Amino acid sequence: MSTGTILELCYLVAAITFILALKGLSSPKRARSGNFIAMAGMALAIVATFFTPNLHHIGLIVVAMVLGVVIGVPAARLVKMTAMPQLVAIFNGVGGGAAALVSITTFVGLDAKTQATYKILEVLLGVVIGSVSFSGSAIAFIKLQELITGRPITYPGQQIVNALVTIVAVVLIILVLVTASTPLMWLLMVVGLLLGIGFVLPIGGADVPVLISLLNSLTGVAVAASGFTLNNNMLIVAGTLVGASGLLLTMMMCKAMGRSLANILFSAFGSNITATGGEAGDETRSVRTGTPDDIGVLMAYARKVAIIPGYGLAVAQAQHTVRELADELEAKGVEVFYAIHPVAGRMPGHMNVLLAEANVPYDKLKEMDEANPVLATCDVALIVGANDTVNPAADDVPGSPIYGMPIIHADAAQHVVFLKRSMRPGFAGIDNELLYNEKTTMLFGDAKDTLTKLVAAVVAS
Ligand code: TAP
Repeated sequence: MSTGTILELCYLVAAITFILALKGLSSPKRARSGNFIAMAGMALAIVATFFTPNLHHIGLIVVAMVLGVVIGVPAARLVKMTAMPQLVAIFNGVGGGAAALVSITTFVGLDAKTQATYKILEVLLGVVIGSVSFSGSAIAFIKLQELITGRPITYPGQQIVNALVTIVAVVLIILVLVTASTPLMWLLMVVGLLLGIGFVLPIGGADVPVLISLLNSLTGVAVAASGFTLNNNMLIVAGTLVGASGLLLTMMMCKAMGRSLANILFSAFGSNITATGGEAGDETRSVRTGTPDDIGVLMAYARKVAIIPGYGLAVAQAQHTVRELADELEAKGVEVFYAIHPVAGRMPGHMNVLLAEANVPYDKLKEMDEANPVLATCDVALIVGANDTVNPAADDVPGSPIYGMPIIHADAAQHVVFLKRSMRPGFAGIDNELLYNEKTTMLFGDAKDTLTKLVAAVVAS
């Protein structure tokens, strides 16, 4: 068997592992093993690539890999859960940038005049899509890291400017195809970078994670384009998988937020978002507050308790304490489950990852559709740092930014308990009537502190 055949076989095995990994990642139970399978497949693909006939610059490749490991491993290990979206953004941007560079070096290295038009088109698509993905992801990172405002940045005529830049990119692609001009190819790269910036600036707030998923998909397309350019089946398969799964994830997030992709990309939603909230909770209506002891007794004598986690659980890093509370309740014979909204937190699967970290058994997690019918049978719905995902405005207030988003119907339970620090709104920046509902008791404070007090109260009951 020739080296080339062995190489292609290794790539085939790696491609199969990527597909199996995606399957694994679709369930919290198998997500970890899915990741390991993907890592093994990637390791195989990397090692096999070193056996590519006529591979040059092996020393430089090794240096680049060592640099990647030195930067990537600590970044991934030290990142806080709440900063995960920006890490994904920057890693994704680097992937897009790498794909653009591969296409650029290919273009510079070949005699474009002698190549078939479709070959050059592949290369140019790699340049432009990779550049969009790189600069777009960099702006998303800067926004999420709060180095600039996370809100939509808009100016008059912005959509026209963006449309014009897109037209310039298309015209440049045609010109390079006709003239094979290298300077115009560089200009195309610059226009691609501008397009990525222009496209991402007006998107802000809660829409940024959806945008990252879309940019991720674009990076996949750019990588697949590089694969065609380099005649590398591994890159084609991996890029296509990333492109397709990123797009599917984007669509699923849109559906869970009750919004269309076009609305997210072009409506500058989030301009009404305040980073810390404020005005929505400033009204003078009163709410009922409780003490940890009262609420502890209420839960200890309940038959069934639903725990509804949200972004605040991640901020407070209270996943272990919430599990402790569930354990104590179960020890007293209370049935406990966790109701998980698909967009609770700030990234897909955020709550699943947090709760898995605290070894919460998977069978205790109920997806929203499974949890909603059961909530009416619960004595207590304990909302831990969630807000928008339980906000009845999604059902009742046409025109609200979250109108149409499916929610967890915490209000169906006998009693609702909110653990949050203040009356400030959630990410959508809007008031939540459930806070004022007669069934609701507020326990103000950082979720880790209040949960710790609740654990003590339940133990003492
Ligand atoms: P949010 O609506 O953002 O509400 C989180 C609540 O947690 C806030 O009201 C905040 O109130 C409270 N909180 C913050 N830190 C806390 C702490 N240390 N202790 C206790 N409470 C704390 O959260 P959610 O219900 O999870 O909704 C998620 C939002 O993000 C939705 O609007 C969703 O559309 C959006 N989004 C999610 C995703 C994904 S994929 N997950 C993607 C895009 C957008 P206080 O400040 O008063 O404490």
